[in-house]
Amino acid sequence: MGNQDMRYTIQRFQQLDSTNTAAARMAEDGAPGGTVVVAEEQSAGRGRHGRQWSSPPGTGLYLSVVLRPPQQQELWQFGFAVSLAVADAIGRVTGTDPRTKWPNDVLINGRKVCGILIEAKLDHSHTPTPPHSHTVVVGIGINVNTPGFPPDIASKATSLAIETGRTIDLGEVESALLDSLDARYEQLLCEGFQAILGSWRDIDCTVGREVSVEAPDGTVHGVAQGVNSGGDLIVRQADGSIAHVTAGDVMLR
Ligand code: BTN
Repeated sequence: MGNQDMRYTIQRFQQLDSTNTAAARMAEDGAPGGTVVVAEEQSAGRGRHGRQWSSPPGTGLYLSVVLRPPQQQELWQFGFAVSLAVADAIGRVTGTDPRTKWPNDVLINGRKVCGILIEAKLDHSHTPTPPHSHTVVVGIGINVNTPGFPPDIASKATSLAIETGRTIDLGEVESALLDSLDARYEQLLCEGFQAILGSWRDIDCTVGREVSVEAPDGTVHGVAQGVNSGGDLIVRQADGSIAHVTAGDVMLR
């Protein structure tokens, strides 16, 4: 633990629409950095690109953390720090070998076990009062004891229980996650993004793989070369040209 340890205040709910929505509301009402919102079930869990995140009770960990970074920080950098923290925590609790997939998914044996949704709330007031003039809500959904998935996603999704063959304690995953999140957040703030990226690259499962990326202005096919220092995915296309992808979804082929 470092010198800027985050002090967590955990708020637990049996059911919420979305922990991200609730955390953003609390942040707006002045909740401090380190406020954690956990729900046993979400009725309208949200994923990236406006998708829905299935959140039945009992099998998943659904939580959001309010962060109030002391200095302006590029939002996309949090995705790398958070996915790394999730991988650290899952590896520690289960002994599996979680990997990251650009931009911020966590996979075990090539299948997604966690989704991350990061949202910023800018303070539009005319008299911003640093250090609380901007807020980040980090939403994390982990498939912990999900016994199986519908056929359309079964080849792409997994859970900790499926991977280990045993029931995993949700509370243990939660506390390991909050610990590693604290450590990686502090590393991002103190050592900067390159330190995070170094560790992230060590467990990146896309590099060297043939990928299709659904990017905002079309699909990019090629071999992933890794992530550059600006957080872009670099893809070498069949004609030898290099694409820098700044946003999108990667399919491993
Ligand atoms: C993704 O599309 O991969 C991101 C999924 C993020 C889901 C989590 S569950 C907790 C938090 N609350 C939400 O509504 N979404 C995030």
